[in-house]
Amino acid sequence: MNLMSRVTRLGCALAFCCLALVLWGVPGTRALNNGLAMTPTMGWLHWERFMCNVNCQEEPDSCISEKLFLQMADLMVSDGWKDAGYQYLCIDDCWMAPQRDSKGRLQADSNRFPNGIRHLADFVHSKGLKLGIYADAGNKTCAGYPGSYGYYDIDAKTFADWGVDLLKFDGCYCDSVKHLADGYKQMSLALNRTGRSIVYSCEWPLYAWPFVKPNYTEIRQYCNHWRNSADIYDSWQSVRSILDWTSSNQESVVPAAGPGGWNDPDMLVIGNFGLSQDQQVTQMALWAIMAAPLFMSNDLRHISPEAKGLLQNKDVIAINQDPLGKQGYRLRKNDNFEVWERPLSNLAWAVAVVNLQDIGGPRYYTIPIASLGKGLACNPACLITQLLPVKTKLGFYEWTKSLKTQINPTGTVLLRLESASKIASKSSL
Ligand code: GLA
Repeated sequence: MNLMSRVTRLGCALAFCCLALVLWGVPGTRALNNGLAMTPTMGWLHWERFMCNVNCQEEPDSCISEKLFLQMADLMVSDGWKDAGYQYLCIDDCWMAPQRDSKGRLQADSNRFPNGIRHLADFVHSKGLKLGIYADAGNKTCAGYPGSYGYYDIDAKTFADWGVDLLKFDGCYCDSVKHLADGYKQMSLALNRTGRSIVYSCEWPLYAWPFVKPNYTEIRQYCNHWRNSADIYDSWQSVRSILDWTSSNQESVVPAAGPGGWNDPDMLVIGNFGLSQDQQVTQMALWAIMAAPLFMSNDLRHISPEAKGLLQNKDVIAINQDPLGKQGYRLRKNDNFEVWERPLSNLAWAVAVVNLQDIGGPRYYTIPIASLGKGLACNPACLITQLLPVKTKLGFYEWTKSLKTQINPTGTVLLRLESASKIASKSSL
């Protein structure tokens, strides 16, 4: 190749790069351009609590059926869940009939969903809620129902025609990492082409990790949230392992999160059987710090007042939904304590101190104030409010001081720090 053609090619490449920058903004921050999930999505998702129970003969109250979702929709409104922000009522696996219809479209199991999904969506919308559904990029769903491979456009159109508002797209039964990546991308584009606003919830990195390090910049361009780690179970061990996974990989995953695209550590299991009250506090506090989508998977017909109070805690939800949209991270780990922090709008910070020791009683932890919020949170002073386990105003703390907290085994103290200078400038207005 002569020099001239090299220069021309370089010129073209540069022009293309500039154009790409103008079109796409700064690489690494571009999110799926559907205007959705500007804060983490909130709702209810059936999987952890109800799984693939299709036995409506023997278990009519807990099988995956229209009746279950109609009941949950009613309760989401009457019991304050919708007002607290939980808007998306989501169906997981096992809603489908075992075969597509004669036109190749997915169809709901007609015994369990006698009026079809369109009818359910209409009802859910009449309540001011939104409906989520589930499908899979591979040849079958994880539970063995029809997969979307080869049908991405038809399925996206079917969901849009039904009035679906969110798609959880699973990654079972993909033959290769390429099939997985192509499937997630193609479904994202297919959803976009329908013209309907559909939140796109992915599991792409979870299935990619065993083979390749996921490219989060790319994933963020196609998905509104993405699962990274294994399925959650109703146990402390499971919650802990998700926290461990997230902190061990925080350099890769934290920068990927922001308005329009979030890391998804999986459902909230608060209100079920496996977590103690302190462990439920830990899950709620840390899901707020992690800017996680908040999908409860529990039985809203039977839930304790403590679990309900925690899940509907306005102060904690405000941290989760903070408009700055920056995910928090683990700041420190020592002596079986972990300190996590998250920057919030208006120079505020959220801080969580977790006591991971599951023997003995409550333990004290002392935090030097200057170590929080990159040294800025309390410089020269800040107002600290404890939000969990109980709301308590702790007052003003100067930069040079320390804060002593007491934390139950496997529990968490969640704090909100407001910058004193910000408070002073607000009150002088
Ligand atoms: C996978 C997903 C779960 C759930 C099941 C359904 O395991 O990770 O969240 O959707 O499939 O079969």
